[in-house]
Amino acid sequence: MLGVDVAETALKSAREKSRRSGLEAEFATADALHLERLGRQFDTVLDSGLFHTFDASERLEYAESLKAVTKGTLYVLCFGDEGENPARTP
Ligand SMILES: C[S@@+](CC[C@H](N)C(=O)[O-])C[C@H]1O[C@@H](n2cnc3c(N)ncnc32)[C@H](O)[C@@H]1O
Repeated sequence: MLGVDVAETALKSAREKSRRSGLEAEFATADALHLERLGRQFDTVLDSGLFHTFDASERLEYAESLKAVTKGTLYVLCFGDEGENPARTP
């Protein structure tokens, strides 16, 4: 399992969480817009909280980047601008 982020602070926090939970994972500094630079491919790719931070042109670049490394399933956990806001549902 490999976790990536551009921010060293985020990676430090992820490494600590991983160690605390006993999860074996590898972490690396990487730009999600150029995942092909990892030179690797993955059966499962999970985006947690990143997609919605990109603007329209970055999203297209990100899609190409994801395509280069995903050989199986991609999961995207993100916020959207449309649909019901569950926080407002009675
Ligand atoms: C909303 S936080 C989500 C953090 C974490 N993935 C989570 O689910 O708790 C967005 C993260 O995306 C990272 N990020 C922003 N642009 C990035 C990029 N181009 N490549 C990789 N990570 C990026 C930020 O450094 C930040 O840690």
